[in-house]
Parts: sequence; C-alpha cells; structure tokens
Amino acid sequence: MNILLLGSGGREHALAWKMSQSKKVTKLYVAPGNAGTSEVSENIELDLSDFESIKKHTLEKKIDMVVVGPEQPLVDGISDFFMSDFELKNIPIIGPVKAGAILEGSKDFAKDFMTKYGIPTARYQSFKKPTTEEGKRFLESLSAPYVLKADGLAAGKGVIILNDLNEAKESLEQMLHGQFGDASETVVIEEFLDGIELSVFVITDGQSYKILPEAKDYKRIGEGDTGPNTGGMGAVSPVPFATKEFLNKVEERIIKPTINGLIKEKINYKGFIFFGLIKVKEEPFVIEYNARMGDPETEVVIPRIKSDFVDLLIHTANETLDLANFEIDERSCTTVMLVSKGYPGDYKKGEIIKNLDRIVESVLFHAGTKASGAEIHTNGGRVIAVSSFGSTMQEALEKSYKNAEIIEFEGKNYRKDIGFDLK
Ligand code: AMP
Ligand code: GLY
Repeated sequence: MNILLLGSGGREHALAWKMSQSKKVTKLYVAPGNAGTSEVSENIELDLSDFESIKKHTLEKKIDMVVVGPEQPLVDGISDFFMSDFELKNIPIIGPVKAGAILEGSKDFAKDFMTKYGIPTARYQSFKKPTTEEGKRFLESLSAPYVLKADGLAAGKGVIILNDLNEAKESLEQMLHGQFGDASETVVIEEFLDGIELSVFVITDGQSYKILPEAKDYKRIGEGDTGPNTGGMGAVSPVPFATKEFLNKVEERIIKPTINGLIKEKINYKGFIFFGLIKVKEEPFVIEYNARMGDPETEVVIPRIKSDFVDLLIHTANETLDLANFEIDERSCTTVMLVSKGYPGDYKKGEIIKNLDRIVESVLFHAGTKASGAEIHTNGGRVIAVSSFGSTMQEALEKSYKNAEIIEFEGKNYRKDIGFDLK
C-alpha cells in the first residue's frame, strides 16, 4: 500500500524508519519531512494546515492510508475532513477526530473527562475572565507551588508553576488577559503533584488497544533537570521504576477507563493516546493527555516494537486491533538529542553536519535537518536524536554518547546526563 505520514520531526523519522521496514508498503511519503525521512521515504512539500492540498496529494499519489504525527492537524480536524469528504472517506486516517483530539486541545475538557470517568488526576478548577476573583480565592485554598495551565494548545509553553501566591494571582490575571491568546481564555488551576514523571502510550482502534513500551523524557535544557523547558533532550525506555505492578495500576485505573469513556462519549478514536503520568509514592496520576506520540519518546518506543508496525496500523484502521501480532523487544533503548547552541532560545540554522556516515551501533533520527545538495544542514533547535539499544540502560547510553561525540556541527550541544535519576 501507499502511505502518507504527516510531520517533520524526530518522531516522524522514527515512524517512517519503522514503516519502511514493512513488506506491506509499496511507497511511503512523508510531508513535509526532513533530511532523515528522505532516506527512507519520499518527502512532499506540504503545509499541514492546508487540508485541500493534502487531499490533492493523497488522491494524486493514490494513498491508501494517512498517518498523522503532530497534534495541530488533529485538533484542527484533519480526520473529520477525511471522513466527511466524498473522495477521501474510504482512505483510513490514523489519528483521532477533533472530538478525540480535544483531550489534548483543551485541558479543561480533559480534566472534566477524567473527573467524569474516575481517572486519577490533580484536584482542579477552571476559570474565565469574569471569574478571576474566584480563581484567586481558589489559589488561596491551595498550597505552593501553584500550577496554572492555559486551556488550549500553547506550543508546550502554557503551563506555569510558581511558588509565590501573589505571583500566581498576577499570572492568572495575565493569562486570562490574553497571555497565550485564545489558548488562555480559560485557565485550569490545579494542585501540585510531587512525584516522578513518565509517558505511557497506547494505540487504539476505538475498542481494543495495545500498550506500547513506556518511556521517560528529559524536558529541561540543563543537566540535573535545570533551566528552561525544551521539546525534549533525550529519553529512555523501559523506565526502571515502572514496575509490572505499577503498570498494572496504570492499565486498570487509567487506560481502561479512558478507552471506555471515549466509547461512552461516542468518540470515534483511532490513533495514539499519550498518557503523561506522574508517580506519586506508588500511585499513578494523569498530568495530561496527548492525541499523538511523544517526541523524543517515539525515538525509543518505536525501535522496541518488533512486530510489523504497518500491520498494527492496518488493524487499527479495520478495528481488528485485538487480532494484531504485537511483540516488544525486551532490550533497553535510549536516545540523546543533539541541539543547536542557544536552543531553546535563538539559534543559528544551516550549519553543516559531519560524520553521519561514521555512526555504528546507533540509529539516527533526524529532527531539524535539511538536505542541501550532498550536505546535510541543521534546520532547527533540536537537530538529531541518537538512539541505541543495550542489554541495560547504561549500555545503550554508552553507545548513544559515543556517537553523539562523533557527529559534528558548529554549536552542537546535548545533555550528558540522560537517565541520571534512574541509575
Ligand atoms: P503539561 O503541559 O500539562 O505536560 O505540563 C508541563 C509540565 O508541568 C509537566 O510535564 C509537569 O512537569 C508539570 N506539571 C503539570 N501539571 C502538574 C501538576 N499538577 N503537578 C506537578 N507538576 C505538574
Ligand atoms: N515529550 C513530550 C511531548 O511530546 O509532548
């Protein structure tokens, strides 16, 4: 079959790399892709907000299945667009409809959903401009630190955590007065949970689900989890503290009630659900839902799937996921993200990347790269994820770090302590 994957990051390179290994694929396209995806598929220059143009290419290239990487097109309703279009409606699309993607697109909706279905999450209340004073009183009823969240998508920047009550009140005012545009028209204030975070992923056909390997990502730019948040500096899978017993609780208290809730709400959810979790003592709580895979988690989760990934997607489309073959590699997989100097602030693009052909024992997943003739140039803050397997996390990390050193570009930066808290 011909498959079109939408997106352009490390996540999409990892997905394309895996899909390209399937015998079921005749031709794989990635739009818009990067220099890495063009090694395993054909890139198509496409604007993901232009659904008509996606339609045109889908029909022209005789696409048999579309897979959506990032959240924005899902929240914008790309799956609904396909399903309601006369010419596209028989082409399966992996990624939820808008009514499902809202689990990520609206934190207020997600919190309501969790409350309704008894899914453990931090205590919360939501506020709009006319209820600013109530919001301040709710803050007073909590103890520090204070967690304020813009309801809508805010490019990963919409969560503010403050220690000072007056600053939290000030921040609430600013958010409700348009700090994040429409995204902070509603603000969720919630109780701070003190624990350790991890990510759990499922793929679902709307009835059945398969639990993918769990992962832990490292979001801060600085070693020891310091400094500003980034799109992700590295990840490991499996997560040592996610014991069988803990993952059982996650399935029974979180995954099953979420899937059942979607069914009860009559939300036709075909795609990935990313559970951003926090372990408090031994108990799991949901911090957030995402309607897509994580990045850089995908760069360690996908390599651990041994079965044919395209087969899994076909079963998802056909609502026969319970029949799919699903095998996981027991080994550890780690990834270290090479980033541009200055990131997550300002950084330069267009630096030549060298020694990519000297890498053994790791797989490189390109994030921000661009081919320019025979050269590959940096084209983003996050540049390349160096993923490796090992019989232990330490062994995998040694390989990732050895290769992280070999790759060269001007201003290369990376965290040297991925997995530091798990050893
Ligand atoms: P989110 O965008 O919802 O993932 O939030 C961003 C980050 O804020 C999370 O990864 C957590 O580190 C932190 N965070 C969010 N909500 C809470 C909470 N209720 N308690 C503690 N930390 C939180
Ligand atoms: N790694 C976190 C995310 O993809 O949102």
